[in-house]
Amino acid sequence: MQTIFVKDYDEMSQKAYELVREVIEKNEDPVLSLNTGGTPRGLFKHLVEGINNGLDIRKATLFNLDEYVGPKGAVYTVRTYMYENLFNLIQDEPKHAYLIDSAADNLEKEIERYKDLLSKHKRNIQILGLGTNGHIGANEPGTPFDSTMFLAKHEESTIQSTMKEYGIIREEAPTEMITLGFTEILDAEKVVLLVSGEHKAEAVKAFLEGEITTECPVTALRNHDNVIVIIDEAAASLL
Ligand code: GLP
Repeated sequence: MQTIFVKDYDEMSQKAYELVREVIEKNEDPVLSLNTGGTPRGLFKHLVEGINNGLDIRKATLFNLDEYVGPKGAVYTVRTYMYENLFNLIQDEPKHAYLIDSAADNLEKEIERYKDLLSKHKRNIQILGLGTNGHIGANEPGTPFDSTMFLAKHEESTIQSTMKEYGIIREEAPTEMITLGFTEILDAEKVVLLVSGEHKAEAVKAFLEGEITTECPVTALRNHDNVIVIIDEAAASLL
């Protein structure tokens, strides 16, 4: 694992974008798995700007890390986020953008469909954010390190973060999410974890200084040499 300490959110976003751009530029058929939420908004801004200035997204295949269970058009879905932060803002289209269906009648079937697509596309890069309780994707504390794509229930702290991020009340907040497991996450050629802000400092401390345990899911990344972690000063403040 490689750890890069940066000054602030903007520098983290810039560095993350450089890694994403490199993947798109260097591969003939780049495959990217992206995350959503507060952390990668800056990365998406850079990506949009890059694409509108000639970065060739038309050859790229996109996957997502996870998707909330709920109506497709809900404000919190990964689908809505991807349209608002990427698809609606660029002139070109990616070769494929595989979204998880948040409203599928049969969620188990939907998971199998996505797993099958993932198995046919080796990902060059997987972008991740970090939950305040150490989760990645929706692999909450206690999830076995050999998890594969599954339907996860959120911990209360995760539900609270979702409410804050999307400005919704408890009754509207999703409580479940389809997520890639550790297995699919670590299967990417390069895994990039982005962490910014003081509210992530405890999770960062547990990640880098605590023991490797399912109680702190992100510690699953510690012994992998394909992992790059980008942490800003506020998130690193307890180290
Ligand atoms: C959420 C999502 C993840 C996200 C993480 C951090 O619950 N399941 O996809 O990366 O937690 O979110 P944020 O970047 O908004 O802090």
